[in-house]
Amino acid sequence: MSRRPPIVRTRAELRALTGAWQRAGERIGVVPTMGALHQGHLSLVEAAEAAADRVIVTIFVNPKQFNNPDDLAKYPRTEETDARMLKRHKVDAIYAPAPDQIYPAGFATTVSVAGLSEGLCGAHRPGHFDGVATVCAKLFAQTCADAAFFGEKDYQQLQIVKRMARDLDIPVEIVGCPTVREADGLALSSRNVRLSPEARLVAPALHAALHRAAVRIVAGAEVGPALESAKAEIDDAAFSEIEYLELRSAAGLEPMARLDRPARLLAAAWVDGVRLIDNLPVTPL
Ligand code: PAJ
Repeated sequence: MSRRPPIVRTRAELRALTGAWQRAGERIGVVPTMGALHQGHLSLVEAAEAAADRVIVTIFVNPKQFNNPDDLAKYPRTEETDARMLKRHKVDAIYAPAPDQIYPAGFATTVSVAGLSEGLCGAHRPGHFDGVATVCAKLFAQTCADAAFFGEKDYQQLQIVKRMARDLDIPVEIVGCPTVREADGLALSSRNVRLSPEARLVAPALHAALHRAAVRIVAGAEVGPALESAKAEIDDAAFSEIEYLELRSAAGLEPMARLDRPARLLAAAWVDGVRLIDNLPVTPL
C-alpha cells in the first residue's frame, strides 16, 4: 500500500473505526510505540499485518514511564517521518492521541505488576514499568486489540505486559517478536541517534559480550565467572557504567545461578551519556 495511513487523534474517532471492524468480524492487531520508528518497530508491524485483518500503530510518548524529565524532553518526536515510513505497510490507522485522551483530568489509576517489575530495569527506573503497564492497559482497551505485538528487545517489558493482560483478563494475545539488530550486533533503538560517532563504535560491545557469555554458559561454564568476564569486557570497551548484567529465567525472570532451565541474559549499560539495553536467550542443550 502506498497510501499514508490516517492519523487518529481522539478516542471517539478511533472507536468509530474499531466498531466498524468489529462488526465485520475483523481481527485487530496493535503495535504500541513511542514513535521515532525504525526497522525494529517495522518488524512488529509486519508481524501484525501477517496475523491480523486490521493494524493500528499507536504513537504516544508516555510521560508516566519516564522517571527522568530530561529523558522525556530529549525523546525524539518524528511523527511526519514515522507516518511516511508506514506508507509502505498495510497499516489502517496511526493512533497518536493527545495526552488528555490517555490521561484525562482526574486520572487516578495505576496498573502495577509486582515481582516482574522490581529487578533489572525496574531497579534503576523507579515507576517506569507501572507507567508502561498503565498505558498498555489503556491502549488495549481503547484500540479493542485482539493481538498486540512487542519486541523481545525490551524483554522485561514483554513479560510484564503478558502477565498484566493475563491477570486482568484483558482479551488480547501478546505476541513477542525477535530483536532487530544492526549488522554489527547493536540492537536497533530510538535512542541510538543520540550516540556520538565514537560511542556508536563502542556500542556493539554490549551485544558481543552478552553473546560470548551466553555461548560459554551453554557450553557448561559457571554462571558467576561468565557474567564477571562479560562485565569486564564491557568495561574495557569504554562503557561508563553497567547497571546490571544478569541471568534470569526466561519465563518468570527469577535469578539463576545454574543453567537448569531456559534463561535470558539481560544487561543495561551507559556509553557516552546514552543508556543501552540488550538481552539474549540462553537455552540449555
Ligand atoms: P518503543 O521503545 O517505541 O518500542 C515499541 C516497541 O518496539 C516495543 O515493543 C519494543 O520492544 C519494540 N522494539 C524496539 N526496538 C526493537 C528492536 N530492535 N527489535 C524489535 N523490536 C523492537 O517500548 C515502548 O516503546 C513503550 O514502552 C510502549 C510499549 C509503547 C509503552 O509506552
